Amino acid sequence: MTQAILTPDANSQDGTGAHSDGQSRKVFVKTYGCQMNVYDSERMGDALTRDGYQSVDTVEAADLVLINTCHIREKAAEKVYSQLGRLAKLKKQRNAEGGDLMVAVAGCVAQAEGREIIRRAPVVDVVIGPQTYHRLPEALAKARQGESVVETEFPTEDKFDGLPKTPEKAIRARGVAAFLTVQEGCDKFCTFCVVPYTRGAEVSRSVDRILGEAERLASAGVREVTLLGQNVNAWHGKGADGREWGLGELVRRLATIGGIDRIRYTTSHPRDMDDALIEAHRDLPELMPYLHLPVQAGSDRILKAMNRRHTAAEYIRLVERIRAARPDIALSGDFIVGFPGETDEDFEDTMRLVREVNYASAFTFKYSIRPGTPGADMEGQLEEAVKTERLARLQDLINEQTRAFGRECVGKVVDLLLEKPGRNTDQLIGRSPWLQPVIVDAKLGKIGDIVRVRITQPGTSGLFAEPAE
Ligand code: SAH
Ligand code: SF4
Ligand code: F3S
Repeated sequence: MTQAILTPDANSQDGTGAHSDGQSRKVFVKTYGCQMNVYDSERMGDALTRDGYQSVDTVEAADLVLINTCHIREKAAEKVYSQLGRLAKLKKQRNAEGGDLMVAVAGCVAQAEGREIIRRAPVVDVVIGPQTYHRLPEALAKARQGESVVETEFPTEDKFDGLPKTPEKAIRARGVAAFLTVQEGCDKFCTFCVVPYTRGAEVSRSVDRILGEAERLASAGVREVTLLGQNVNAWHGKGADGREWGLGELVRRLATIGGIDRIRYTTSHPRDMDDALIEAHRDLPELMPYLHLPVQAGSDRILKAMNRRHTAAEYIRLVERIRAARPDIALSGDFIVGFPGETDEDFEDTMRLVREVNYASAFTFKYSIRPGTPGADMEGQLEEAVKTERLARLQDLINEQTRAFGRECVGKVVDLLLEKPGRNTDQLIGRSPWLQPVIVDAKLGKIGDIVRVRITQPGTSGLFAEPAE
């Protein structure tokens, strides 16, 4: 979930309203980072549509550029500053031509840097942290009066409550699979990670709000919902029965909503994988057999230094319990190589764990310092060359496992949710229960259908399949 996802179409809904001052404005939204940023960009896009903005696909066509940033990678902030430098030039050019350009920075770099952004890049009109998105229209209005605005507190009100509900038309435009944020923030404080600082403390949205949003999604034709949270399986809330629910109970309730045929969730922490959630995997055909369960490392010494608060053996035992409940479940993970103090032996422990678990896919990262986290000040920082070599070895192993997983799928009969047109007009792309893209003949059905197919062969950008008799 951490590769930079560029989604100029994240706000592709057609908003054509004019602002109360009679002007129609155009916004270009650029989204980096995790799915939660994609979701947040969509919600900000909805708010801006309400405010009279229309979304456009290029910076050149825009009156407002909104950059939704991610802070997880090295030099993330520096990259934002160089982007802002380019926008400053564009603004100058616009001003010379008698026009203007507004710039807003949102997301985790906005939260981490705050006012510093405006100091270093005066082109920026609004800096807005992830917990204050409901104040975006107001902040833009102030900025239009010539005031630069920085909103980076962690307010007590629910930001999603303050944002307009996504119009049905916009939900439809985004397709049959949707994200739904149920939880935000993190209290785990892994020693390498910025998320607890940029997203704040762990907060769960209420059952009512989540069910309300899921029902709206379903009535707009969404068939698959991915529940989002930095620590999604730490979600908890008071259920209709008056008891405290965990994610397992929530998923069970969501599965009863007519139209929602598939449910996923990401990202989970091993420590929050409780019995109710594992039982939901056992009992609910709607809960897809795919689980992203990062472990980060296979050495107990390193896990301890990372403050992961579980051992390698506990993780493996957990995987066994999950697989006992749902034998066909595919696992994915996140790994960091080259954490401070990681020896060759520690790294071999990671390789051993990967062999033992056998992943369908995984994200692998070289440790990189995030200023302000405990890892940044640890002794034993490793040389780049060591990290590079370990990363390559780990990636080879994981790629091998991913390919083997693809091969094992050949011959299997699976239900595909048809999501979008293929590259060729006579093809459609669907998702397997294991999240793989699968290419089929367009005659098989229409977008939004769930069709039964037999996987015929692995390809470079997905699997191929034919109708199953
Ligand atoms: N809440 C999620 C997402 C955390 S960020 C989780 O716990 O999995 C996503 C991934 O980025 C992490 O799992 C970790 O593998 C990687 N990551 C985070 N900080 C990092 C750092 N300083 N260096 C390298 N990788 C990092
Ligand atoms: Fe970061 Fe750890 Fe929280 Fe995940 S669990 S967001 S890695 S601190
Ligand atoms: Fe990046 Fe923030 Fe998501 S740092 S991964 S955008 S929570």
